[in-house]
Amino acid sequence: MKNLLSMEHLTNEEILHILDRAQAFENGEQPQVVRSYNVANLFFEPSTRTKTSFEMAERRVGCTVIPFDAGFSSALKGETMYDTVKTLEMIGMDAVVIRAKEDEYYNELLEGIDCAVINAGDGAGQHPSQSLLDLFTIRKEFGTFKNLNITIVGDITHSRVAKSNASALTRLGANVRFLCPEEWAGDFEAAHSWEDVLEDSDVIMLLRIQHERHAVSKNFSKDGYHDEFGLTAEREKRMKTGAIIMHPAPVNRDVEIADELVECERSRIFQQVRNGVYARMAILETILKGRK
Ligand code: CP
Repeated sequence: MKNLLSMEHLTNEEILHILDRAQAFENGEQPQVVRSYNVANLFFEPSTRTKTSFEMAERRVGCTVIPFDAGFSSALKGETMYDTVKTLEMIGMDAVVIRAKEDEYYNELLEGIDCAVINAGDGAGQHPSQSLLDLFTIRKEFGTFKNLNITIVGDITHSRVAKSNASALTRLGANVRFLCPEEWAGDFEAAHSWEDVLEDSDVIMLLRIQHERHAVSKNFSKDGYHDEFGLTAEREKRMKTGAIIMHPAPVNRDVEIADELVECERSRIFQQVRNGVYARMAILETILKGRK
């Protein structure tokens, strides 16, 4: 595996290998990276979890993390993504982790770039490292994906998490459903009422409303969205025994999920963040082991 760009590019075997390695790291195994690789994290969109988690994972697998501040980089003077990455490669980078607002920004890096490219989120496209940590979280809980009812709720059409997870989970045997306002279903068939999905879901995966990607703001009041599509305390009580709540975060409390549920027994929201470090260690090991 040279790059990690989209879940669509991974075989089921590659996905399961990364999950196995993530589990091994959680169990205390040491990474098999042969030398100290140089890695830079290029975040052209805001991030708390993904950027910090990648940096922690890079250090744990023995990489040297070279600071890069996108907000003070020459991208602001018009330098292209290709020229930025080529420049960092010439300086000595073995891998770059990139988040950018353009869908599939990585297409311009497929030719002429030798350093590994890890997509940390492209616009409303894909978020493969989030998907892998989500899959790791689900497999730890249920031991399998087969026949699980997984309901993804919220701003589906603008969500790279929804798209990355939907295809991967379906390929691995889960029954993925969507719940959202009609305008946010995009190409997906979706339910528009909790009644259709609440009581038989094994996983309820909530999404943040991606206001920054909306051309026209949907006219929901905060309470309006919560009442219609949020996971309320009353709805949580009707969830199936053993069912879990996930959210890639950042969470808007009392919008997509009731404040009191964020750390309830069913919630895996903060465990997802912790699992993200193991999943990203596994991604880095898999990619860097293949390099000279
Ligand atoms: N889940 C996620 O991508 O969070 P950040 O935007 O904080 O990285």
